[in-house]
Amino acid sequence: MSRRVAVLKGGRSLEREVSLRSGGNVEAALRRLGHEVLPMDADQHLVRNLREQRPDVAFIALHGKGGEDGTVQELLEILGIPYTGSGVLSCQRSMDKVVAKAIFTAEGIPTPKWYAFSEDAFREMGAADTLPEIRERLGLPLVVKPAKQGSALGISVAHEPGEIPRALMTALSYDDRVLLEAFVPGREIAVSVIGTDAPQALPAVEAVPTGDFYDFESRYTPGATELIAPAPIDPDTAAEASRLALACYEALGCRGFGRVDLMLDAEGRLWVLELNAIPGMTDTSLLPAAVEAAGMGFDEMVGRVLDLADLGG
Ligand SMILES: Nc1ncnc2c1ncn2[C@@H]1O[C@H](COP(=O)(O)OP(=O)(O)O)[C@@H](O)[C@H]1O
Ligand SMILES: [Mg+2]
Repeated sequence: MSRRVAVLKGGRSLEREVSLRSGGNVEAALRRLGHEVLPMDADQHLVRNLREQRPDVAFIALHGKGGEDGTVQELLEILGIPYTGSGVLSCQRSMDKVVAKAIFTAEGIPTPKWYAFSEDAFREMGAADTLPEIRERLGLPLVVKPAKQGSALGISVAHEPGEIPRALMTALSYDDRVLLEAFVPGREIAVSVIGTDAPQALPAVEAVPTGDFYDFESRYTPGATELIAPAPIDPDTAAEASRLALACYEALGCRGFGRVDLMLDAEGRLWVLELNAIPGMTDTSLLPAAVEAAGMGFDEMVGRVLDLADLGG
């Protein structure tokens, strides 16, 4: 059945350019599937455009603030337009790494040990004085990241105690809440999940970055990161990665699709870093690589995610 599909892309988040690439790929797939595509930038005219164009459904190809954190999902609920991916609450939970990690821990899902701070705790309560204890408990190096951000923006690895304040300032320039996390040396594994009632984990993908870690540049520069799909890991580890990804997806109440980022350490243990409610769909992204490894094809994935679009949640 051909439908009028609004593709929401761009927006004002720092991941705007990534979203435009994801959205472009989704639009092409939807056209090949025979749908009528209404490309829409998630700008200040979005609500007006949605009202005027009256799409049957919205495919959200937004990443980061505004698009992946429940904001646009809330608007679509009000407008009564079914949309792809997770609902408002699940988006909020997955966008905030501190909230997501607390939920994972409550569910017995391994995630690196962490502490979180708000900017107010620094400014008004002397939180900086606790840094020596934190350093002792988490060890060095440690990772400092904004609670709500994506594409590795604002993340730094502090190797020396003296690097921590600067790392905190960097992270705080992206969000008013930051986390300090134990550094897990190891391999980068991502498991994408598709489905709502009976979600399915796709083959794990390994990202082999050329630099220090999988940063913004190495993610979106073709050739800067090698993606290996399926990841060359033993079957037990692959099964465990799938199990953990599905557990994360269910714990946050996700729908449609999502991607879980993990680290595989030298002892063969897996650690969940985060869940992305709207995985990147650019040519160099992990989800398309997983889809291909599953023998599914990008268009089929887009069609399935579209068929799962709904309101509520
Ligand atoms: N605790 C950690 N140990 C080792 N590397 C990490 C850790 N946290 C983040 N990284 C590195 O930073 C990247 C981005 O971190 P992630 O938590 O997935 O945030 P983002 O939302 O920016 O993708 C990871 O893919 C990994 O390379
Ligand atoms: Mg990530």
